[in-house]
Amino acid sequence: MPLPEGFLEELKQRSDITEIASEYVNLKRRGRNMVGLCPFHGEKTPSFNIYTENGSFYCFGCGAGGDVITFIMKAENLDYIDAVKYLAQRVGMNMPEDSYDDSMSQLRKRIYEANREAARFYFKTLCSPEGAEGLAYLRGRALSDKTIRRFGLGFADSNRHSLCNHLRSLGFKNTELVSANLAYQNNNSVSDRFNNRVMFPIIDLRGNVIAFGGRIMTDEKPKYLNTSDTPVFKKSSNLFSLNNAKDSGEKSLILCEGYMDVIAVNQAGFANAVATLGTALTPEQALLMKRYADEVIICYDSDEAGQKATARAITLLRNAGVLVRVITIPEGKDPDEFLRNRGNAGHDAFKNVIEGSGNDVDYRIAKLKKNYNLEQAEGRVGYLNEVVKILASLDNSIERDIYISKISKEMNVTPDALRQQISKISRHDIYERRKNEFREIQRNLNGRDDKVNTDRFSKPRVTTAEEALISYLIKNPDKLGFIMSQVDENKFQSEFNRKLFLYFRERIKNGYEPLSQVSADFTQEETAKIFKLANSHTTRFATDNTVREYINVLNDEYIKLKTKDIENASMDDINEQLRRLRNSHS
Ligand code: GTP
Ligand code: MN
Repeated sequence: MPLPEGFLEELKQRSDITEIASEYVNLKRRGRNMVGLCPFHGEKTPSFNIYTENGSFYCFGCGAGGDVITFIMKAENLDYIDAVKYLAQRVGMNMPEDSYDDSMSQLRKRIYEANREAARFYFKTLCSPEGAEGLAYLRGRALSDKTIRRFGLGFADSNRHSLCNHLRSLGFKNTELVSANLAYQNNNSVSDRFNNRVMFPIIDLRGNVIAFGGRIMTDEKPKYLNTSDTPVFKKSSNLFSLNNAKDSGEKSLILCEGYMDVIAVNQAGFANAVATLGTALTPEQALLMKRYADEVIICYDSDEAGQKATARAITLLRNAGVLVRVITIPEGKDPDEFLRNRGNAGHDAFKNVIEGSGNDVDYRIAKLKKNYNLEQAEGRVGYLNEVVKILASLDNSIERDIYISKISKEMNVTPDALRQQISKISRHDIYERRKNEFREIQRNLNGRDDKVNTDRFSKPRVTTAEEALISYLIKNPDKLGFIMSQVDENKFQSEFNRKLFLYFRERIKNGYEPLSQVSADFTQEETAKIFKLANSHTTRFATDNTVREYINVLNDEYIKLKTKDIENASMDDINEQLRRLRNSHS
């Protein structure tokens, strides 16, 4: 059952989208709207819009859109009901009882509980005789008891049923354990997913245990086993230890490659370390880091793979708008190895490494330098040509100037020569970047790869007219009678738009505000599309005459469709066509 209309309307009235979005985005007023850099994708020029008049948002860059509930769903990674609960709690409203489908939300709650109990169980096992091997392993890796407790590390023993048995004794059902990915189903039996591994709980920003990583204690493969994605866990949008880092009071984050690195760095006194969860950094994670830090210090392994990952992370983090620094650990070690034998001296040693680290530009230039023989003119030219490309990619002109003077002194060339070369490249770069942004927005606007309305491609003219008409109807519900006197749903040739027409017709007929249930009744992609229509400029100043135009297109295209198929048309259809043909030519 859906949530009551009155409840949703009040909730939305009390949840000001501008105020809520401001917690995630810097917004500036532009005309009737507020604009800013989209929190859902990395961009340099703002295409994220808030429409205060109907409490909605739309990003022309990535096509995200919806109402305040959709915004929270995306920003906080929640589903519909949980986003509503989140907002209700924020404004101090009680959820209406028993009036909504809560099953997904209930399952998630059970998974959180099962995960919490599992973490407790793994920790208890670690401290018991069954966990001796695990404890010895962790101690062998120089982790103190305090660190083990702080991260809630644990041990999954070799009995394939101990966790399942324990959780079932606490009342959890097999289906819940499988949904949590704590167990897997094999024919008719359910077994623990993790065996004989030391366990690293992954905890979200609200303190929920959402997943586990498990390390084998030998050289067997796979070295790490992680929880697959579940209803409470998406590995691409979470970070290990962000819960600790967020409370560290630091304005920077240290991005490490592995769990062990994060833990070792923490033990050395840096609580602001995080790591991805067994995958390469994603744009989502870069945006997430930006929410908690101004600067990210990349601290990956110095091997080939680590350097590749560093280059990739630099781009993603720059795009997300954070400052980037790169640490190179001496002697080709990872942070954990670097700290292991240093004991109490680790803190200062690591601090020195951080302080000695350069930003991403220094790092890229230093890396470049290794590829050229600067003793020879040819090598110098090659090197400078590449350096200039890096400098041209910098948005900040002060930063750029500092490097120009540094490089010109170092390489004994005039700053002007560098400057000229840079401006040549950056004009071209900016041109290309703008062109790309433009293409992206255009693609979004003309919906050429419209995933929601798949009829658009084959029927662009009628689809556009349908959308304009629906957009007009949303903004002018009082015109429903007029529109209904001119067209009915059969004139809509794209299925999605027909569905929308019927949907809004019903809502308006029943006296409801057209948009207030959209985020409940449609998928996120559909919702985005609908709010794009609702905020479309095309129909802002539409008059009765322009609306007649849309209607004419619908009727016109309908005749074309039917005459194409006149061999199979019914008598009624033919009569209707004749009537239309006569009318349209009189
Ligand atoms: P140690 O070898 O114990 O020091 O761990 P580490 O964290 O240093 O591991 P490594 O640098 O090899 O890998 C970095 C991260 O990649 C790990 O923390 C895991 O998140 C992930 N990873 C490594 N091996 C595997 C694997 O076999 N499977 C999966 N899914 N992830 C892995
Ligand atoms: Mn390691």
